[in-house]
Amino acid sequence: MHRRSFIKKTCAFCFTAGALGTTTQISGCAVSGAKLLKIDAENKVIRVAKTEFDGHKMRVIRSKDWDFDIALVKKGEQYTAMSLMCTHIEEPLMLAGDIFICNMHGSRFSNEGEVLQGPAQKSLEKLKTEVETDYIIIKLS
Ligand code: FES
Repeated sequence: MHRRSFIKKTCAFCFTAGALGTTTQISGCAVSGAKLLKIDAENKVIRVAKTEFDGHKMRVIRSKDWDFDIALVKKGEQYTAMSLMCTHIEEPLMLAGDIFICNMHGSRFSNEGEVLQGPAQKSLEKLKTEVETDYIIIKLS
């Protein structure tokens, strides 16, 4: 099965995301209570409105332009974007409370992407971000 198909069929972030359209849309997340944002990239750039973080520290983004969901975490005025791909053997991660877990072999990662429990050895891949007046920019390349 193609990785993208596998992720979309098995990702536990949101069971309803596949039914949504192409622009910025939101659905509730069945597992974590976090919102899942579906945002298409333009020129390998994802733009997330800062208002999405009103009262929240984390958002999960799904884009057809990236093979895995992306966690965008706010700490103060800093934003960190991480690909939710297990660094053990590239399986999708799930949000459990405020950490990420891999159901394949049990690795756990903090919400800053650090390994809490192996077998994974490497931190999550971080994506470059920039903050504009009203948006957080995530660069996919
Ligand atoms: S693939 Fe995630 S722990 Fe092995």
